[in-house]
Amino acid sequence: MTIAIIGAGMAGAACASQLIQQGWQVSLFDKGRSVGGRMSSKRTEQGYLDLGAQYFTARDTAFLAQCQHWLRAGSITHWQGRLAQLESGAVVASPDEEVRFIGVPSMQVPVAALLQGLALYTGRQVERLAFDGNRWQLFSAGASLGCFEQLVLAIPQQQAEPLLRAAGVVDAELSTVFSTPALLPCWAVNVQLSHSPWPYDGIFGNAGSQFSWLARQSSKPGRSQGEHWLLHFSTAFSLQHLESDSSEIAGYALTALQQLVDQPLSADVTHCHRWRYARQNPAYPLYGMWYRPALALGLAGDWLYGGRVEHAWLSGMQLARELLR
Ligand code: FAD
Ligand code: NAI
Repeated sequence: MTIAIIGAGMAGAACASQLIQQGWQVSLFDKGRSVGGRMSSKRTEQGYLDLGAQYFTARDTAFLAQCQHWLRAGSITHWQGRLAQLESGAVVASPDEEVRFIGVPSMQVPVAALLQGLALYTGRQVERLAFDGNRWQLFSAGASLGCFEQLVLAIPQQQAEPLLRAAGVVDAELSTVFSTPALLPCWAVNVQLSHSPWPYDGIFGNAGSQFSWLARQSSKPGRSQGEHWLLHFSTAFSLQHLESDSSEIAGYALTALQQLVDQPLSADVTHCHRWRYARQNPAYPLYGMWYRPALALGLAGDWLYGGRVEHAWLSGMQLARELLR
């Protein structure tokens, strides 16, 4: 069986890894320069910077077993960041017993580990799809990427919908899957500070705060040394400032940080990244995955399962099981 998977994030990689084990001919396409999707870390001269996913937890026993495998292979490690949270405008210690994992030396390593030996095509943005009732043909930059018996889209909902609409796919259930936006945006800003204002590595925001998360990059192996702090703005802020430019967002980040510390802060913004499709919309009904044999078409992704790394893996695995039935 030949299959094209679009998206080499955790969901696409999990699905591909299962199919390849059963002898399927899998071709995996991603528009990024490397794999990982929202789990990618940015490479800099001083080390990696995590701008997207910060860590992941494992609550499902199958995913926990996968994590044990990655741990043994050295693809991930435990992150034992000292945690705090915002309370009435103050940063207060908030330790807990949760087990958290990170890729080493960057977040995409566990995704790459799933893809060893696979036909992987990065730097290929799939721009058009065509289905003749039998086979799917994929196009990038006006040229065909080939014909396949099955197709999986393991990309964010809001990127999958226009591709399938343009291909003329008509399916009532699929329209329902696309009817509510599944993913909401998040602005990420990396700031270099002169010193650490807090004896913590991760700070959770609260319901009223502009930021949802602050983290010290150097608390993770392989990441940029020095006082690099990552700030994720809240969904409300990110929606409100979605189309702002990076310089404006940088200004908001510096103001938000300054408000948290009493002393004057020397800070430089090094990176701003707008994630248009980041966080799960709590109002989105979950489907796990979606597969329609008559269309030889499947969908997987965190957004179908709940919005976390673990959910992306579970969605990809569930779709693979369905395809292999
Ligand atoms: P993605 O990672 O989005 O993968 C989709 C892939 O498809 C991408 O590589 C993209 O390049 C590719 N693609 C899209 N369109 C096309 C196309 N037309 N052609 C070719 N390729 C295409 N989760 C946690 O568990 N813990 C966290 O701390 C956490 N923090 C997060 C912080 C941020 C800012 C963001 C954005 C996400 C965070 N998440 C976190 C969520 C986590 O990153 C996701 O749940 C998970 O990585 C999603 O994997 P995925 O495979 O479903 O999608
Ligand atoms: P988790 O169990 O560490 O966190 C879940 C939530 O519990 C946190 O968001 C926080 O509100 C609360 N929490 C956990 N530990 C806490 C502590 N010590 N003190 C105070 N509050 C604490 O991780 P899980 O369930 O794996 O979730 C993943 C994380 O990724 C969440 O924080 C989530 O918000 C974040 N995420 C961010 C996205 C974004 O776009 N910025 C997208 C997807 C996930």
